Amino acid sequence: MMPEFTTVAKVSDIPDGEARAFPVNGRMIAVFHTGGEFTAINDSCPHMGASLAGGFIEDRTVTCPWHAWRFCVQEGTWKDNPKAELKTDCYEVRIDGENVQICVPEDVSVEADE
Ligand code: FES
Repeated sequence: MMPEFTTVAKVSDIPDGEARAFPVNGRMIAVFHTGGEFTAINDSCPHMGASLAGGFIEDRTVTCPWHAWRFCVQEGTWKDNPKAELKTDCYEVRIDGENVQICVPEDVSVEADE
């Protein structure tokens, strides 16, 4: 089944250098705007669940507001320890005119089996 894109915001809703969190298919997704580029990762920090959309963003890296773990806003990788397997989910983003759309698969359990 083709995954579907959901419109979550207008391009102008997310200023450059900032992020916003949106609920899609039962999950909170953080959408980041870095230099004209929009990317999306799971909003919930894999450490203790802080909202990563509220973190400090620099050089395509977001620093968690609670304990300063750092994640790549493009790939969800944990920057503090690149050798660790720890990684948060990232999602496809596309811009359709004024709309920011993200693709969040509905069935998580299928994904987890991979
Ligand atoms: S909750 Fe994000 S670093 Fe602790």
